[in-house]
Amino acid sequence: MTNEASSDETASEPAETAPTVGAGARAPTDHPKTASDIASIYADQADTMERMRWLDRKLTGRYRRRQFGDAAGRVLDVACGGGTNFAFLPVSTDLVGVDISPEMLAAARRELDRLDRDGELVRMDAQQLAYPDDSFDTVISALSTCTFPDPVAALREMQRVCKPDGRILLLEHGRSDVGPIDRFLDWRAEAHYEKHGCRWNQDPVELVRDAGLPLIDVHEHVLGIITRIEASPVAVR
Ligand SMILES: C[S@@+](CC[C@H](N)C(=O)[O-])C[C@H]1O[C@@H](n2cnc3c(N)ncnc32)[C@H](O)[C@@H]1O
Repeated sequence: MTNEASSDETASEPAETAPTVGAGARAPTDHPKTASDIASIYADQADTMERMRWLDRKLTGRYRRRQFGDAAGRVLDVACGGGTNFAFLPVSTDLVGVDISPEMLAAARRELDRLDRDGELVRMDAQQLAYPDDSFDTVISALSTCTFPDPVAALREMQRVCKPDGRILLLEHGRSDVGPIDRFLDWRAEAHYEKHGCRWNQDPVELVRDAGLPLIDVHEHVLGIITRIEASPVAVR
């Protein structure tokens, strides 16, 4: 699929597609959320997330720096949220950020201003990226596959828009290596999903496999909860 990119900050409404999830997503499936549901949740959370960005940076900054610090060329940040990744990208990169939430994109614009950086921000559904094939040198995404109604579709879109000699760099959260923590995540998964639209007990590496993206590099941190993944944009035939 090849689409033309929209260059304004208010692209079309998200499609109400029926969510499907791969084996890596242990979704609470009783009430699967649509992209519009997720956009509403983040409309409510954008302000708090922007105010708490200092804490996010303290908790995840070192992993963002390691994962995205050598991104190069034209970079797409998928589900960029309030732009927490932007401070960790080299200033030489040509940055495009997309997100389903206008409120999160407004926070991302303020982050670009704070960093005194240029960048293009577009409202867009990660599951249907409006960019032609092979548009980006580097595709990055952080803490996002847990919220996509169809994370496998979104990962395949990242692969499609990434040049064959480009890089796909992910920073995700999910299951823990530690039994009691993992059981807690399972126990609270449904309530957490209802409130935040986040499947916090999914396995991001399994999702990448489900999407058919070859794994290049995987590093786990924080008792296995945080995972840095590099995947290949070239599908195995
Ligand atoms: C937990 S936040 C992470 C934001 C940012 N990547 C970060 O690391 O701080 C998840 C983000 O995914 C976005 N999102 C969820 N579903 C989306 C979709 N289908 N298309 C685009 N963005 C989506 C939300 O609006 C939200 O900004």
